[in-house]
Amino acid sequence: MSGAGDPLAELGVFVGTWVGGGEGHYPTIDDFSYEEEIEFTATPGKPFVAYRSRTWSPGRERPMHTENGYLRHAGDSIELLVSQPTGFVEIQRGDLQGGVLDLTPVSLVASPDAKPVHEIRRRITVDGDVLSYDLWMSHADTPLTHHLKAQLRRS
Ligand code: HEM
Repeated sequence: MSGAGDPLAELGVFVGTWVGGGEGHYPTIDDFSYEEEIEFTATPGKPFVAYRSRTWSPGRERPMHTENGYLRHAGDSIELLVSQPTGFVEIQRGDLQGGVLDLTPVSLVASPDAKPVHEIRRRITVDGDVLSYDLWMSHADTPLTHHLKAQLRRS
């Protein structure tokens, strides 16, 4: 819970280590499953939380996607900044309503050698000790389409 004067305010609900997994699909690839660990880490007195996601193939046999960034206050909204080793940097913004952070892309910067991803959408939900998210992307000739759904528990 965040009290008056807490610089984290509503970001406090995200803080913790979350462990679980998800399912991925896209029209141009085979369906897959993955395990995931997400850390949202607070720094005392600071109005942001650091974000780190690591994923593995089932059984943690092989590392898969990873990404890092921050959740921060941006005026009345919450901003997610993400950097991906696949060559993307995202800024997403949204409001936390009823535990749902529905994010809209503000900026997507792609490296010249990154895959042709045109848009990424994310929705993150926190319900007590359960964090879930969905991610959609438009890639190459495919319009905005669901790519990932995951559910994690606060460990
Ligand atoms: C494929 C983007 C997150 C697993 C792809 C493709 C793109 C992409 C562009 C290629 C689709 C094609 O070739 O038609 C992204 C973006 C992500 C993300 C932008 C995050 C914002 C993840 C995560 C996982 C994952 C978290 C798994 C843990 C895969 C797999 C494939 C794939 C297994 C198919 C094989 C491959 O092309 O590497 N993704 N992805 N992706 N993605 Fe993601």
